[in-house]
Amino acid sequence: MASTYRDVYGRWQADPQAFWGEAAKAIDWIRAPKTVFDAKAGVYGRWFPDATCNTCFNAVDRHVKAGRGAQTAIIYDSPVTGAKRRISYAELQDEAATLAAALQDQGVGKGDRVIVYMPMIPEAIIGMLACARIGAIHSVVFGGFAAKELATRIDDAKPKAVLAASCGIEPGRVVAYKPLLDAAIELSASKPSAVILLQRPQAQASMTAGRDHDWADLVAKAKAAGRKAECVEVAATDPLYILYTSGTTGVPKGVVRDNGGHMVALAWTMKNLYGVQPGEVYWAASDVGWVVGHSYIVYGPLLYGATTVCYEGKPVGTPDAGAFWRMIEEYGIVALFTAPTAFRAIKKEDPNAEFLKKYSTKSLRTLFLAGERADPDTVAWAERILGVPVIDHWWQTETGWAIVGNPVGLGMLPVKHGSPTVPMPGYDVQIVDEAARPVAANKMGSIVVKLPLPPGALPTLWQQDARMTESYLSEFPGYYKTADAGYVDDDGYLYIMGRTDDIINVAGHRLSTGGMEEVLSSHPDVAECAVIGIKDSLKGEAPCGFIVLKAGVTKAPIEIEKEIVKLVRDKIGPVAAFKIAITVGRLPKTRSGKILRGTMKKIADHDPWTTPATIDDPAILEEIEAALKQHGV
Ligand code: COA
Ligand code: AMP
Repeated sequence: MASTYRDVYGRWQADPQAFWGEAAKAIDWIRAPKTVFDAKAGVYGRWFPDATCNTCFNAVDRHVKAGRGAQTAIIYDSPVTGAKRRISYAELQDEAATLAAALQDQGVGKGDRVIVYMPMIPEAIIGMLACARIGAIHSVVFGGFAAKELATRIDDAKPKAVLAASCGIEPGRVVAYKPLLDAAIELSASKPSAVILLQRPQAQASMTAGRDHDWADLVAKAKAAGRKAECVEVAATDPLYILYTSGTTGVPKGVVRDNGGHMVALAWTMKNLYGVQPGEVYWAASDVGWVVGHSYIVYGPLLYGATTVCYEGKPVGTPDAGAFWRMIEEYGIVALFTAPTAFRAIKKEDPNAEFLKKYSTKSLRTLFLAGERADPDTVAWAERILGVPVIDHWWQTETGWAIVGNPVGLGMLPVKHGSPTVPMPGYDVQIVDEAARPVAANKMGSIVVKLPLPPGALPTLWQQDARMTESYLSEFPGYYKTADAGYVDDDGYLYIMGRTDDIINVAGHRLSTGGMEEVLSSHPDVAECAVIGIKDSLKGEAPCGFIVLKAGVTKAPIEIEKEIVKLVRDKIGPVAAFKIAITVGRLPKTRSGKILRGTMKKIADHDPWTTPATIDDPAILEEIEAALKQHGV
């Protein structure tokens, strides 16, 4: 089919309000929008400012009302526990309404925040929907974060309640969540008044009297009393959730997502970008702790009436590199969305795709990749073994959906390896120099998006309008700064080449090297430090820390390096995958004292490098090179 992309994008360009007003018809509003966009409201304007709605109603109840209650909403498949379960839309409505009533019993209401600290189990999704149902604002924290990271988020969100599970399960180990949660609450100034805890058989958590409630008990009691919460009317502009993401310091940014614009945008993408139909099985192999999980495990597929998949496992090792193929066959999955790292992991274990011979993947129409750069080798390998189009698309926690992609539902454009293709309607993407002047095709620059951002993208940071402006809007006036660099080719295809700040991407997980440096500096023997992301054939990037010890430290550097690795794991979490700490005599700096992280990265990556003219002492770069070699980098 010839692509209608150019017409559709052109339609959006000609009249963005008419375009989104039309898209908004896919949503069941309580009060339908009369105004599509108010440029004067909020930090850069607000979408659907006079409309009211409920996201849980649209994601669940309306499908039941339409007679599709028996359709499977969630497929839960957990190779780490052996559990499998299907939850219909009718059951999901029941579960969400009951848990929502239990939350109300704990005093949680519209506008209150609820932290969700849970692994990939359906109750995490039910918890998110229960919050949405009563207008409470959820903030999901990824299970691989340590207590301190959780505490920072608790302090910022000031939740009234926490929904948690007793444990998560990583291959070969049970990760007890409750001690981490207790430690986080202990550390935080803002104590939630209630914890609703799901006891999993793999780990029994101890309960704090007066604060902690057994999830199953509360739900059973609410069910026995016939208690169910109705969907609460909220403004389209009210926050649905806060999702914290790495910023350039150790203090994460609380990305706010609203109710109305979010629903409109996600419903549009399910059809036009992902090309799926209601009732089909759509699988985002990610985690509810990340934006991909929010948008495409939970809200996108459910708003659209598709069947979503909650997979508690890994691409390899649970039990083998055939796990994804088994899932596709068993559930008739039509679209798979994951991070390139997952495919690199499968390719590493099973380069000839022997496991694929055991399964039929004929239901699969498209593989979507995002979260990090999709290297052409991996894309070509996936295309070859699966025989379906492999679609890279580029977006961020902030935007909530693809800025640039290849719209399968509108008719695919030719794929160019290394490019996530073209801007989606809503995004006027430009490449600019430091003075915000557009640069020519094929020239690298900062990638910016002309304001306003489309529905679904962040309206602000949680209670920090000024930080929103300062972080994203002030450097290039009139534009949103993506903090990615890249270029556009002669056909208008975008190429993402890397971040312009200190964010790194480790196995599709976004991490701040600045945040890691704060942890390294807190070690009593460390005088100064630098953390850079170095190339990693599996995870894309891996953090590498350099430390300079304080004068007079007598402890062996190797011991301190081990302590540093443990410190990052304890303070940030295993997800940081911080494994390399290297002691050096001094760090390379410019004459004005700026650490030359870029040059250090080139040396570590074995890329060609030159000595910067501004360097204080060129000999230091050789010392860095020798230290890296000594550590096998
Ligand atoms: N709870 C607790 N710990 C977790 C966790 C969780 N939810 N998720 C990951 N971890 C731990 C891992 O067990 C690992 O611990 P270890 O250092 O003791 O081995 C550490 O965090 C690093 O995890 P990860 O980077 O995921 O590496 P891995 O070696 O366990 O797995 C892949 C590698 C490629 C299989 C895995 O990264 C993967 O599936 N990636 C897909 C990417 C993805 O889903 N991205 C989301 C955005 S789309
Ligand atoms: P996150 O907010 O965790 O989704 O991470 C967003 C960042 O991941 C982006 O700013 C990019 O640096 C990177 N990223 C996401 N998708 C892609 C992609 N398709 N290609 C290249 N980089 C990507």
